[in-house]
Amino acid sequence: MQPSSTDERLVPMRLQRFLARAGVASRRGSENLMTAGRVRVNGEVVTELGSRVDPRTDVVSVDGREVRLGEAPAYLMLNKPAGYLCTMRDPRGRPTVAELMPLEDHPGLFCVGRLDKDTTGLLLFTTDGDAAQRLLHPSYEKEKRYLALIDRPLSARARLALERGIALDDGPAAPAKVRELGAEEARGVPFAIAKWPHGAAAVELTIHEGRKHQVKRMFKAVGREVLALHRASFGPLELGELALGAWRELTHDEVSALRAL
Ligand code: URA
Repeated sequence: MQPSSTDERLVPMRLQRFLARAGVASRRGSENLMTAGRVRVNGEVVTELGSRVDPRTDVVSVDGREVRLGEAPAYLMLNKPAGYLCTMRDPRGRPTVAELMPLEDHPGLFCVGRLDKDTTGLLLFTTDGDAAQRLLHPSYEKEKRYLALIDRPLSARARLALERGIALDDGPAAPAKVRELGAEEARGVPFAIAKWPHGAAAVELTIHEGRKHQVKRMFKAVGREVLALHRASFGPLELGELALGAWRELTHDEVSALRAL
């Protein structure tokens, strides 16, 4: 079927808009790619921000890879606040992460994996079902860095058990990396808790599995209760300075890093 002449994909447009619409990067990110000389139109590098392209006739590439409209899936990350369910629709009408995402621009968006309702931090979204499946598959699972506020400090023995791989009721958890946070660093973590209980401690736990409530269950297995949990990274993606409740599109480099996994 011929697309109609009102099909937005067939209208000449500015190059940075074309790149953003193709899901390469945000409009600003696309401008940066252009000024860095990474974008070519019909084989010629184009750095002029006002340049226009005709999607019907022009061949656009970024770093030598051809880009077409309507083909590139979207990838976004959210700094999930506490109190939202990781689902795109809740039959019981509870708050979901879908409310925080730009679904008008990316109608097929869904979250890759889950965080508990009370967990904050990095949640990846995509419209690319294949990529999501690969990222969640146990044989591809990449490191995730969590910051946990626990009710009391780890003993040397508890720490060693986490580092060696603790037994859980659905099978052993793989060895984790454990780092205890100093007071100042811990204060910088946006834990979703009004007031730190006396004696609480903050620990960074890096794991590469993604079983249900895994971090909470791992701490429970060494006699510690997780009071608040925040995910700071997911594979090659870092939350960085993204504000709580805010989302952003992944950069071109981040998408490439994810695809390389
Ligand atoms: N582990 C948990 O226990 N909860 C999360 O939300 C993520 C990992």
